Amino acid sequence: MSTFTIDTSTSRATPVPVPGKRMTAPSIRGRKVDGRTEQPIVMLTAYTMRMAQLLDPHCDMLLVGDSLGQVIYGLPSTIPVTMEMMCAHGAAVVRGSWHALVGVDMPFGSYEASPEQAFASAARIMKETGCAAVKLEGGEAMAPTIGLLAERGIPVIGHVGLTPQAVNALGGYGPRGRNQLEAAKIISDASAVAHAGAFCVVLEGVMEAVAAKIAQTVDVPVIGIGASAECDGQVLVTEDMLGMFERTPRFVKRYDDLAARIGEAAASYATEVRSRAFPTADQTYRPKP
Ligand code: KIV
Repeated sequence: MSTFTIDTSTSRATPVPVPGKRMTAPSIRGRKVDGRTEQPIVMLTAYTMRMAQLLDPHCDMLLVGDSLGQVIYGLPSTIPVTMEMMCAHGAAVVRGSWHALVGVDMPFGSYEASPEQAFASAARIMKETGCAAVKLEGGEAMAPTIGLLAERGIPVIGHVGLTPQAVNALGGYGPRGRNQLEAAKIISDASAVAHAGAFCVVLEGVMEAVAAKIAQTVDVPVIGIGASAECDGQVLVTEDMLGMFERTPRFVKRYDDLAARIGEAAASYATEVRSRAFPTADQTYRPKP
């Protein structure tokens, strides 16, 4: 079995491969024509095989975000996230998907030192996961790195505005672009990463007017998270969108209340185990009559 494909005979799910071709960097890039994206691009995070299977038919792109540090590992930020984590989860998401383009975040410390360091890290991520793109945070300062990766055949997703790996320098996770200086910097950052060769740009946590300016001026798709409806697409952390956490940023819309539903299911199970109502004959191996 390949590292990148699921063994359907042993999988607990019954995945039905979506016939047809997976989305590619050029197909995503090509969704923005003459500064307009007719149908907004749909992106969600995924960290596991099963979640990827469930999201894949509905998404253009799945992002193995380094937000897995907080969401899966309970870390205080994305800074401690390692290459090993990104590669293991990236490969799982590739195995669980057929349709969406899978992009994997480059973890903090794996790309900032030099374009050469970034190439080595991106190549490892692509070899070990089978993903079709990597994402890295940063604006003008990262343009030479994005240029080198793109010229060497590595599709890059840019990420500007609120860049969580820089939380210590930014001083928190609040929205960016609230004054003219900050707004101008984010606008030039977005333009720099697009010119350098990113095929799309994630724009996080910015004021609506800044997002509108960027979506109008940058010729690749701009995928917003907390960046208003002005963007060419949207991304959310799936667990936030599903209502897995009590605290979420203001820009999150909860489409379910899974935390409560999981709690209720666990409580029912606990009650039935304690009262010996579970397991019943239906869940018990007995000789056939
Ligand atoms: O790490 C992540 O999940 C991200 C998205 C929030 C865009 O970068």
